[in-house]
Amino acid sequence: MILNRRKTLTALACASLAALVSVAPGMAQAADKALTIGFAQTGAESEWRTANTDSVKAAATAAGVTLKFSDAQQKQENQIKAIRSFIAQKVDVIILAPLVATGWDTVLLEAKKAKIPVLLESRSVEVKDPSTFATFVGSDFTEEGRRAGKWLIENSKAMTGDVNIVELQGTVGSDPAIERKKGFEEALKADPRFKIIRSQTGDFTRAKGKEVMEAFLKADGKKINVLYAHNDDMAIGAIQAIEEAGFKPGKDILVIGVDAVKGAFEAMIAGKMNVSVECSPLLGPQLMQAAKDVVGGKKLPRWIKTNEGVFPAEVAAKEFPNRKY
Ligand code: AHR
Repeated sequence: MILNRRKTLTALACASLAALVSVAPGMAQAADKALTIGFAQTGAESEWRTANTDSVKAAATAAGVTLKFSDAQQKQENQIKAIRSFIAQKVDVIILAPLVATGWDTVLLEAKKAKIPVLLESRSVEVKDPSTFATFVGSDFTEEGRRAGKWLIENSKAMTGDVNIVELQGTVGSDPAIERKKGFEEALKADPRFKIIRSQTGDFTRAKGKEVMEAFLKADGKKINVLYAHNDDMAIGAIQAIEEAGFKPGKDILVIGVDAVKGAFEAMIAGKMNVSVECSPLLGPQLMQAAKDVVGGKKLPRWIKTNEGVFPAEVAAKEFPNRKY
């Protein structure tokens, strides 16, 4: 679905209406019933993910929901096992943060047959039957990629000649990695000066971001003008590699990240990072509302989108005290 996510989501608006109408009566329960929700989380790969887990747990407690939490440690098979266990336990709703986009058809169909609505959060999926999930709560990752590209266009005007970019991608096959790459390339494609000279996964972690950046620097060193990292954790790991290689991050190499976590603000205030495109992990309250609504028989929109901005280094010190994650 990732290639044509928007198209699919739109097309699904119609399909899902029919699906929800047919599923909702069986699933509708008293809106004030105390819910039990199973949450199949990806793991704890980043500062963002920890904030996301905390947000869901806090919102569940505040809403009087019993939350069964599963940390898949970055393995899809663990998430599939967790979903099957939630089905066996007859939870009211399942929240899934899908590690990757594909490979969910069978288990989501099992949840649908058990009449347990599934809410996707933080990443989306590519499935044959879109009625197997009730909604996606999360960001527009393509737009995040575009915003990163637009920032670079605006802030590289003084550069002469080619602008050599290295890219640290997120987890292979994950929705945000695919879409952030796509949006970034889309924003830059009109100007041939921008060249992505290397692109490799850093799996959304600091350790891998550092390791891959070390390899980029070894291969291309002085040629690199810009680092685009699909999340701040990888950018922060890469900053260390840049410094160890004797370059100045934020100056010799522009550093662009995504998420806008506190760690990125600290790096920006220290002059080592140039911008972070926001991606909010604070999805807990929207998820609890969506869970109550779907159990109560209400029709959910196909996509509950988060509102986000862009934080360049110039505003970091002023914004830092307001950051919640
Ligand atoms: O799905 C959202 C992404 O997952 C965040 O950008 C990243 O930091 C996290 O691991």
